This record gives sequence, C-alpha cells and structure tokens, in this order.
Amino acid sequence: MSEVHVHKVQAAWKKNALIDNETYLKWYADSVKNPDKFWGKHGKRIDWFKPYTKVKNASFTGKVSIKWFEDGLTNVSYNCIDRHLKKRGNQVAIIWEGDNPYDEKKVTYNELHEQVCRFANVLKKHGVKKGDRVTIYLPMILEAAYAMFACTRIGAIHSVVFGGFSPDALAGRIEGCQSNFVITADEGLRAGKHIPLKDNTDKAIEIAGKAGVKVDKVVVVRRTGGKINWVQGRDVWLHEEAASVKPACPPEKMKAEDPLFILYTSGSTGKPKGVLHTTGGYLVYVSMTHQYVFDYHDGDIYWCTADVGWVTGHSYILYGPLANGATTLMFEGVPNYPTPSRFWEVVDKHKVNIFYTAPTAIRALMGAGEEWVKKSSRKSLRVLGSVGEPINPEAWEWYFNVVGEKKCPIVDTWWQTENGGILITPLPGATDLKAGSATRPFFGVVPEIVDGDGKTIEGEGSGNLCIKEPWPGMMRTVFGDHDRFVQTYFSTYKGKYFTGDGCRRDEDGYYWITGRVDDVINVSGHRMGTAEVESALVSHDKVSEAAVVGYPHDIKGQGIYCYVTLNEGETGSEALRKDLIAHVRKEIGAIATPDKIQFAPALPKTRSAKIMRRILRKIAEDEFGALGDTSTLADPSVVDDLIANRQNKR
Ligand code: WTA
Repeated sequence: MSEVHVHKVQAAWKKNALIDNETYLKWYADSVKNPDKFWGKHGKRIDWFKPYTKVKNASFTGKVSIKWFEDGLTNVSYNCIDRHLKKRGNQVAIIWEGDNPYDEKKVTYNELHEQVCRFANVLKKHGVKKGDRVTIYLPMILEAAYAMFACTRIGAIHSVVFGGFSPDALAGRIEGCQSNFVITADEGLRAGKHIPLKDNTDKAIEIAGKAGVKVDKVVVVRRTGGKINWVQGRDVWLHEEAASVKPACPPEKMKAEDPLFILYTSGSTGKPKGVLHTTGGYLVYVSMTHQYVFDYHDGDIYWCTADVGWVTGHSYILYGPLANGATTLMFEGVPNYPTPSRFWEVVDKHKVNIFYTAPTAIRALMGAGEEWVKKSSRKSLRVLGSVGEPINPEAWEWYFNVVGEKKCPIVDTWWQTENGGILITPLPGATDLKAGSATRPFFGVVPEIVDGDGKTIEGEGSGNLCIKEPWPGMMRTVFGDHDRFVQTYFSTYKGKYFTGDGCRRDEDGYYWITGRVDDVINVSGHRMGTAEVESALVSHDKVSEAAVVGYPHDIKGQGIYCYVTLNEGETGSEALRKDLIAHVRKEIGAIATPDKIQFAPALPKTRSAKIMRRILRKIAEDEFGALGDTSTLADPSVVDDLIANRQNKR
C-alpha cells in the first residue's frame, strides 16, 4: 500500500471551529451510550408545532421498524423558510448561478417564502393532496427548489428524477410510485445545449399510461422558451398559474414519521428502489450534519455542486443548509463550461466559503491543468468537501494543495441515498486528515466491519461495512415494498444495516471505503446497477445475452464494460456497437453510456449457469493473469476467446 499522508488539524481550523477533538470524542461517546438523551436534545434544533415526547423507537431485527420523534408534529418547509423570516427575511437564501456565466439570481428568504407558497397553492388548486406523489423532472433552476418545498409544505411526497434520465427511466419512476402529477420545464440548459425535458415527459407519460398509471396534470416551467408540444387540459404553465393564486399558504402539520420524499436508487438486482425518507428525523439529521461537518457559521456562503436529482442535492443543497438559515448556491451548469475555470470563477464571484463537490469533477479539473485554478483567487474558501465515490489520494492532495492552497481542511464524506445524510466524515476543527480516508463516524453512527461469514472484525481489518444502530436520517422503507427493504439491507447480516460497501479500519480507527462489493457500479459519482444496463442491452433485438461490469477509469472512477452475446446469425460490428450505445442511452440516459462493448460468442458460466462475474471483471481490468480458479466453468475455453478480444488492452 502506498504511504499514507496525514494532515494534522491546523491551528486556524480549530480557532473558531464548532467542534474540537475533545468535544467530538465526548459527544460521540454520549451519542452511542444514550441515543435517546443525545437525540432528544439535538432534535430541538428544528421547530416543532407539537414537541415530541418519544425519541427513538427503532429495531433492525424482525420486521425492521424505524421511528424517531414519532409523536412530534413539524413541517420541513416551515423549518427551512418561515422560521427564519423574522431574523433573516431579507438575507439571500439561494444564489442561483446559470449555465451562462452572465445569468444569476438571488432569492431572499422572504421571496422564497412567497414563491413556495404560490407553488403550493398551484399544486393544491390542481388537486394535489397530502400523501400524493409528485414527480419532479427539472433542471437546476430555482423552480426545482420551489417545487420541492411546495410539496413538503402541503404534505405531498416528492420524487425528484434527475434531468439526465431518459423517458423510459422517467416512466419507470412515475409508475413505481403511482404518481399522477409531474412538474417539468420546457427545456433544460447544460453547457449551452438544450435538453428536451417536456418532450421526454410527454413520452414518459405515454409509456406510463400504457402501464396503467395516468398522469392528470403537468406543471411546466418556462426555462428556455423552446418550442414544445402542449396537451390541453393536462398541461399548465407555472408562471400563469402562480400569478393567479394567493401568495400565502399555511404549512401542513406533519407527523415526524409522515413520508417526505421518495428517491429512486440502484441496487444489485431488479429495478431501482424507491427509497423513502420521512420528515422529522431526516431534517434533524441533515441540518445537524450540515452544520458540523462543514463547520457552517452564520453568514457563510455555501456551495454544493450536486444536482437536486440526487440525494446530495436534496440534503446538502436544500434541506440541511436552509434548515440552518444558510445562503446556498445552486449551479445550473457544468465544471468545464465555458472553461475549466468555471468553478473557481463562481467561487470568487460569490465569495464562497464552503465548497462541496465530487471526486470525478476534481479528477477532470486536475487533468485540465492547474493553470485554470491559478487564474482565480479562491481567497474566500475555508472548507472543501468531497462526496459520491472514493477519492484517490492523488486527487485528494491536488484538491488540498492546488485548490485549497494547503489552507482548507477536506471533509471526505461517506454516505448513501439510503442514509439521508453523512455518516462517516472528518470534522474540520477536530479530525486529523488522511488523504483517501473518510476518517471517523458522525455522532450516533456505529459502523461495524464484518467478514464474509458475518463475523465482526474488531480493531484493524477489512471486510464489509455495516451500521449497527439506527440513526434519525435513515430511510424507513422501500416505497410500497417493505419486504424488499428488509431483504436488501437487513438479511445479509442479521440485525445490521448492510451498506454494500467494502471497508478497512486502520490502526487509528479510521475508515477507508474501498467501493462496492455488490453489482452496483459508480460512474462519475452516479450509482448504477449493472443489472439495469444488462436489461437495457438485452432489450435490443439483436442481443441474446449481456453481462456488465465496472473497471477502473481515470476520471469517472469506474467505466462501464459490457460483454454482449448476439443472437444466432448476427455479427458484431462498429455500427452495431454504436447502435447498442445509443440504445442504452435511450433506455436509461446518457449517464449509463457504455464505455466498452465486447462481442462475446459466449459468457463464462458455472455448470449451474451462473455467470462468473469475477472473471469478467478481471478481463475488463486487463488482469487476466490473475483469473483464479476457472475449473468450475462449464466450458473453460470461453475464457480464451474473451481474453483474446478484450477491449482494454494495455
Ligand atoms: C459511494 C451518494 C467512498 C459508496 C451520497 C456508496 C463513497 C455510494 C463516498 C452511495 C465517499 C459515496 N467515499 N465512497 N466519500 N460517498 N460513496 O447513493 O460506494 O448515490 O455506497 O449516495 O457511493 O451512492 P449514492
């Protein structure tokens, strides 16, 4: 293993920090020893219409039931907006930076309140009720924030679908949660290119309709003014509707365990799962992690570069920061448009203090050269964050040395859609950093490393990462399928939440996440099930079978490598390769674009017809010298052909 770089907490990081190491150790011990007392106290960081008397009521065994603050009443929109109005009504809540560097808007808490209320009234007017599922398919525009808060205000459950997903993927998510309402825009804008969101929505609604889910209303935001199709009676313009409703809408009193949102995410098998998060525990957890992980102080300008279509956007662009009364920046564009200086130009323009991005972006910008960074001052930066995939030490050091000029701590935050908020992370004033390690657990989080037999590994060692105790921000169920929830997360290791990640604990008790141990791959920080890509490939009429694996990719973290067996009589060609790539993009979206396609006359299978993915991974990595035991294969000669025709020859 390469040498570990330790960066001690600097005096400047400690100086005004909210948490120093002693406090961390004390709070952590308290949180684990007496979760009821700890969370009973910190649950009060949000406002409750009716205070809770019960704190934790959760169990990872049997039917698995997780409840926090269950007899309390609150509202997320109220906590993120209304309660700040008195003190900071005129403070900027959201800075919006457009795709075009000359486009920007600043929205105060007062303005946010009015826009959200109007949007909520539009939804109500069109029949959206508490508990209804509203699908949001929007680009990174202010209306995405208004739409999400509007749902939480009236108790509707939002399901945000990333704007890069295809009509088929959108349809699957509309069907999955039986959503009769969709909010979209005419078009999105990314790196100057127009994305046909309304057109995709029209197609998705048609597909969902055939599957028996009827969408009654589509609220359309005008972003570009591009030409779109219009269905009378179903489609309405947001700007027209919002102008004619009242500018006030009282927040619904929600039970702590009322559903807040659904977010679809990929697993090793089957269709994406609708991860369900609820109201009270989630908000307490994301606001608390946002404050302490980023050492957020009143007045800081905070920027998370994620898209609201992912959990990071939910928890750390909107809900966490706004619950804390922060100024949060929302960026419509991409890191390298118009130039690879864009991030740093935005940092200087808006005097960003806290910056949170993904390793894939860091690696891409590192590749573009440090001159693009050096053009900017970045003087305002105080804390840097990373999320979404393991950050390799080289990228970590570049982020630290070049972007932060050795002055900013890096918080490498490990967590998952299912977790709601950050679970393993440094705290800026408390944690000595090691490049590449997510370091230590947040308050209340009890990680456990287990080996393949489920035996707990104490002290130093590697294995599979589980979480032993419930925390307030965790998912409560898979929407509409509680058995799948129990099966997916609590059956591999009885009584423990299994993350699907591999992990090593070092001599200092630091955690090093090594990546997924299941059939999930992480491409540019986007999580994908290999099974989803496989099912897209086999839906092509020339394909008989497909197996998909990840392989190490310099910028994306992992690339998508597809082994494809064609139907009798078909032959592989460059044209067919292109066709298959286009087909996968159509089925899922551009994020699933295959990097390599290998035509394979046959796949390596055991005598019981199970595909041996271990072998396929090795060949994709060009590590075929280390294939291991192939004697259980039904036909070992298959492997020779795969090796001879591998697409990643060095
Ligand atoms: C990976 C994103 C290493 C991990 C918030 C996890 C990470 C999956 C890190 C969840 C990190 C996320 N270090 N790996 N700091 N953060 N991951 O659901 O494999 O999109 O299981 O949530 O990303 O991805 P998801």
